[in-house]
Amino acid sequence: TPTHITVDRTNVVAPLNRRIFGSFVEHLGRCVYDGIYEPGHPTANADGFRLDVVELVKELGSTTIRYPGGNFVSSYRWEDGVGPRESRPVRRDLAWHSLETNQVGLDEFARWCELTGSELMMAVNLGTRGIEAALDLLEYATGEPGTALADQRVANGRTEPYDISMWCLGNEMDGPWQIGHMSAEDYGKIAARTASAMKTADKNLELVVCGSSGSSMPTFGEWERVVLEASYDHVDYISCHAYYQERGGDLASYLASSVEMTYFIDTVVATADHVKHKLRSQKTMQLSFDEWNIWYLDEHQASEEVNDEWRIAPRQLEDVYSVADAVVLGNLLITLLQNHDRVTSASLAQLVNVIAPIMTEPGGDSWRQTTFFPFSVTSRLARGVVLRPRIDTGRYDTALHGSVALVDAVVTADAETGASAVFLVNRSQTESIEVVVDLSDVGAGRIVEAVSLHDADPYAKNTLADQNRVGLTPLAGAELADGILTVTLPPVSWSAVSCA
Ligand code: AHR
Repeated sequence: TPTHITVDRTNVVAPLNRRIFGSFVEHLGRCVYDGIYEPGHPTANADGFRLDVVELVKELGSTTIRYPGGNFVSSYRWEDGVGPRESRPVRRDLAWHSLETNQVGLDEFARWCELTGSELMMAVNLGTRGIEAALDLLEYATGEPGTALADQRVANGRTEPYDISMWCLGNEMDGPWQIGHMSAEDYGKIAARTASAMKTADKNLELVVCGSSGSSMPTFGEWERVVLEASYDHVDYISCHAYYQERGGDLASYLASSVEMTYFIDTVVATADHVKHKLRSQKTMQLSFDEWNIWYLDEHQASEEVNDEWRIAPRQLEDVYSVADAVVLGNLLITLLQNHDRVTSASLAQLVNVIAPIMTEPGGDSWRQTTFFPFSVTSRLARGVVLRPRIDTGRYDTALHGSVALVDAVVTADAETGASAVFLVNRSQTESIEVVVDLSDVGAGRIVEAVSLHDADPYAKNTLADQNRVGLTPLAGAELADGILTVTLPPVSWSAVSCA
């Protein structure tokens, strides 16, 4: 029997906030150096930024970009990265055991964000530093000319304050690997004090307090409760970080990774709302899912890529993604949209070379990984409001998540233009599934675009040698009549259909 999806235009999750399509650039491996920045490259501009990469970032459609870390930020001195480049110090980065040349810092990265049309989201160091350094950075970045640090920025070539409203209060402070790792009690106090001070400087800031670095952390849930009880009044978002990978050849469970992401979101929402009511607060906490992706972490931990040598921009975390990875990533993005009433900001971690949708070679090509496609198409086609469809579909058994749905989907619709879009995955490894989507309530009249990402080999990948092995294909046989869309989803596939 076909899967039936019914769309009710009043079943609104939330108006689409484009911050859900954010990304993340960390000073890690070859993300910055030999990634976005390579002065000797034939496409490099005067700042040393690769314009071929800029074009791919625009095509990817990422919006808000978190910077400069990640684990890196927890021992970073932002002052090292501003002023004349020739006098910037080389430092040891303890997080990734590499050398940081500081040739790219805040001013360069802000210019790169302007080139790509993205919003800059900054993180402050609460590992080795604290309130004073955070306030100094805030003044340097956003202060009107006329004070010492703002004038330093002017002297460095930028008169206008940067328009940076989102700030992360440290990174993954729950993780024992974090430089300056703290207990929830200690972090809650320092986060609240830093947030309060930053908002005294600018009450319009949107501040993100660190939640858990994964739902498998032993402190998951309790960390959120303790940190939010200490900081609730001063912050606007709590962060979530989650990475997924296929383990032990269990593709069935892996394809249902969204089940785990849903559990993660539900748990953080429940905890945040518990604290809200306990504190009798009027404010509802938002979730910033500011690290999410596929990451073959087990393999990287077993490798020698982070070793005792102090190297500049070593090859680290350079996962090469398959079709199955792209299907999971597309499904995770569907999950974020399904929870968009609470998850109002998200960052795919990361952007270039390091667990990234975009890869580069020094002096050479740049290309799209499989995971590039579901992200870029969703960012391009999603418009208006996010709708929660009713999905009647079959189920299959998994070792990790029990019985799960074969088909998952989300819908967006723009009442002003009449445009709508459906994003779907088929998690079956063997069956094509016919899906009937009733779009009559959103006034769908004709199909504008119908694309799919799938392959006879779910492990097919794009590589330096074969950069276009995997790409989007037309979703064969998609039809729309009287508001009823009919599609056939291939096994292990992600698809999108936009209608007018
Ligand atoms: O994105 C890679 C790393 O994952 C980040 O630096 C850290 O925050 C997380 O553990």
